[in-house]
Amino acid sequence: MKPIEQAPFLTEMRLSAANMYRLGWDERNGGNISLLIDREQAAEYLDLNQSLRTIPLGFYAPELAGKIFLVTGTGKYFKNVADDPETNLGVIRVAPNGRDAELLWGYRDGGRFTSELPAHFMSHRARLAVDAGNRVIMHCHPTHTLAMNYVHPLEDKAFTHTLWKMCTECIVVFPDGVGVLPWMLCGTNEIGEATAKKMADYRLVVWGMHGIYGAGKTMDETFGLIETVEKAAQIYMLTAHLPRVNTITDPQLRELAEFFGVNYRKDFLDE
Ligand code: 13P
Ligand code: ZN
Repeated sequence: MKPIEQAPFLTEMRLSAANMYRLGWDERNGGNISLLIDREQAAEYLDLNQSLRTIPLGFYAPELAGKIFLVTGTGKYFKNVADDPETNLGVIRVAPNGRDAELLWGYRDGGRFTSELPAHFMSHRARLAVDAGNRVIMHCHPTHTLAMNYVHPLEDKAFTHTLWKMCTECIVVFPDGVGVLPWMLCGTNEIGEATAKKMADYRLVVWGMHGIYGAGKTMDETFGLIETVEKAAQIYMLTAHLPRVNTITDPQLRELAEFFGVNYRKDFLDE
């Protein structure tokens, strides 16, 4: 068996957490990531016949039974993930009963997976139903996206439309738009269910006055989605209070989407 330190999935996770921290998206323990790992890949680095301990999931996820995930720990600081992955991360496998997680590696200090596991696992389930290649669910608290939540209506169409107009490439990067949830209590199965419901239609879901969720096939795709929303939100926050002289029109958005051949949400344009 090869040392887990050499596993590409671990490197990917360490680099992503460090980058997200560097960008100010993950203060203190803010944010969490889960990455679905192929069984064959996990078996190169871990003894899959040995579980360190069992941790109840707190919800029922029979569709995910047997699946293996690398998940950030609850209360753990993103700034520390790269230097001490074994304490700040864990590899868990959903038990055959769909109710427990078997810890295969990590959470060395007796810790456990993120408190947002319901939203992660329910979102994985929702995205896998749409796209069998989905592997990543990422949550964070990007500054400008969060700031925009306080001054802009929290509604799917209005929020998406504003973001699309902030940078020319937004409609190409996230033609499926952004789903928006109102403020809800975090860490609960209820917010997990609401997030997963939006994830059936969107790869991006804003949690009102809290942060954002992204989903994708790779860490880069998911990171890039959130990064593009955050950039657009930054432009919005830099300009919302200034007189508007120029704008990207709806016909121009349509022209872009059609030129790049993306399947955009047509009902989110006004003209
Ligand atoms: P965890 O530390 O449990 O991952 O929670 C952080 C967070 O962002 C809650 O929404
Ligand atoms: Zn959060």
